[in-house]
Amino acid sequence: MIRQLATAMILANLVVVPIVSAQVTPSPGAAPGFVNTLMPQPSQLSQQEGRLAITAAFQTVTDNFKDDRLNAAIERSLGRIKNQAGVAIPTTPVTDATSAAMVISVDGAGETIQSAEEDESYSLEITPASAHLRAATVVGAMHGLETLEQLIQSDAAGPFIPAVSIHDTPRFRWRGLMIDCARHFMPVEVIKRTLDGMASVKLNVFHWHLSEDQGFRIESKAFPKLTELGSDGLFYTQEQAREIVTYAHDRGIRVVPEFDMPGHTTAWFVGYPDLASAPGPFHIERAFGVFDPVMDPTRESTYKFLDTFIGEMAAIFPDHFMHIGGDENNGVEWKANPRIQSFMREHNLKDTAELQNYFNQRLLKILEKHGKHMIGWDEILTPELPKDIIVQSWRGFDSLAAGARNGYRSILSAGYYLNLMSTAAAHYAVDPLPEGTDLNAEQQARILGGEACMWMEQTSPKDIDSRVWPRTAAIAERFWSPRSVNDVNDMYRRLEVESLRLEGFGLSHISQEDVSLRQLADTREIGPLQVLGSVLEPVTFNARAHLQHANQLTPLNLLVDALPPDPPSRHNFELLTRAYLQNPGERAQERRELTAEFNAWMIAQPEILRLMSGSPPLAQAEPRANQLIELGMLGLEAVSYLSSGLPAAPGWKAGKLAVLDDAEKPQALVRFTVIGPLRDLVNAVPEAPSRR
Ligand code: ACM
Repeated sequence: MIRQLATAMILANLVVVPIVSAQVTPSPGAAPGFVNTLMPQPSQLSQQEGRLAITAAFQTVTDNFKDDRLNAAIERSLGRIKNQAGVAIPTTPVTDATSAAMVISVDGAGETIQSAEEDESYSLEITPASAHLRAATVVGAMHGLETLEQLIQSDAAGPFIPAVSIHDTPRFRWRGLMIDCARHFMPVEVIKRTLDGMASVKLNVFHWHLSEDQGFRIESKAFPKLTELGSDGLFYTQEQAREIVTYAHDRGIRVVPEFDMPGHTTAWFVGYPDLASAPGPFHIERAFGVFDPVMDPTRESTYKFLDTFIGEMAAIFPDHFMHIGGDENNGVEWKANPRIQSFMREHNLKDTAELQNYFNQRLLKILEKHGKHMIGWDEILTPELPKDIIVQSWRGFDSLAAGARNGYRSILSAGYYLNLMSTAAAHYAVDPLPEGTDLNAEQQARILGGEACMWMEQTSPKDIDSRVWPRTAAIAERFWSPRSVNDVNDMYRRLEVESLRLEGFGLSHISQEDVSLRQLADTREIGPLQVLGSVLEPVTFNARAHLQHANQLTPLNLLVDALPPDPPSRHNFELLTRAYLQNPGERAQERRELTAEFNAWMIAQPEILRLMSGSPPLAQAEPRANQLIELGMLGLEAVSYLSSGLPAAPGWKAGKLAVLDDAEKPQALVRFTVIGPLRDLVNAVPEAPSRR
């Protein structure tokens, strides 16, 4: 199976693939030394001689600043190292040990309210005698601890930290993940484990999308009907929101809440119809898309409401920024309302964009009153807004660059939409400041970073982890590491290791597939389904929206929901095929692996069909099982021709390419991950000349 193959390849790579930042070749016969699996890669790393053994005497001392947050972070890290290494090291730091194996020297607490200006840098000096972590702030120290955990290795001699010298500082200051908890609600424990994953890869902003047409997700004591009528009972209490803020702060992560306005607001209006530009009654929107309901920007009562509401939220969310959304207001209700039209004429507002700008100006005053800066999607970008706002580009690079040219700080999200089901490689290739950018140095400094975005139309709490992880780790590396860290093969090698580490934090992005397959098939015997699942992934977001027409109430319990996007099979099969095609006559090992793989597909098919016939949600994927056998056959034939050097009969290639074209079409909301390499195999087969 590809998964076993993948594991074998990863293990092989662990030994042979050189590290990225510092090319080190172990001397012949030496014990395996440092294997670089760090994610994100540090900005500077050099390998030293030797290793620091982790023994039961591994004591840690904090020799300068310390506080509860630092102590808790150290205890968490040491606890994980203890489990990973299997050695009962003391997990509580001391302050007066002279023989400590690890010294942590932190200058101070850092900012009371963490901002994008926080000093997040750290250094790690590991020698055979000791480890020394230095940082200016607790947040920097936490990043150093995450790196330390990723450095731990084991071999026959036991667990150790390889001797390295690391000086690390992020490339971008704003490294975020946006989670849409409105279209589908995500319980507190999902958010917490997401924050653990974020901390592992040094992300520092949790952008919490809390309101939408489909739900209002945080308790307001001033306006209780927001959740009473707008949430289906699925919302965060203020106490829970504070708990999340504290949990994030304890991991060096800021929480920026988003209240999307003036559009995407239907759920607000169910309880408070007077906020809207058209008469009610309103109901929670179950469909997905862009809808007409929009706040009435002409009434003073709207601003009075928002003043109270934002004041209430400002007391829960200490971050300097509050996100006001601002996206996708279609202006329909503003154009249809004579009172709003006459307001626009009176105020000389020539179109609905200008009216939204008027609304934003009013909102800005309210945010300022409550001590908040504004951040919004790129639709808010107008010259009238002051330069302390931040623009989040979701529609493309142009708005990012335009913002920076016009003096605005910006972050990039176009290219980082996780819900689109793109590959980690595709996201990894997107750079907020690509090489050759025509922005000058001052404008470049305004690009603060970016955010991965997880919109939840097609995602439930059950499968969110596999939509967010591990791909977000690749994006996190793009935000943290130097631009020159861009080797896709090495990224995938390290991503697989990081993926396992992330499961250690309680994320379920790997295990969920098997859990869901067992539920779908109603049996533990899911081996054949795993074979099929290993070479399938969800179709794109847009294809699914077009094919399924799901709404908020649609159960998300199909095969597509069980399968992760960009599974390891995609890249591993590509590598295997590429290696084989370099010299099919000679590559016996690759031929064996490919043959075993194709045979597995063929053998699995009858049992897959049997399992599917007993499960209505699986039954619609039956054509995929039949295609699997065709693909297996095609692969075996191609390898047989290629390895023997014998030509195929005339027309063979055209026939097989037609099979691949057919298999490539979206069906059952899933697509094969192996079509491209199979096409390469077929195209490489020599064909006998036609007799005609
Ligand atoms: C967005 O995707 N409408 C921000």
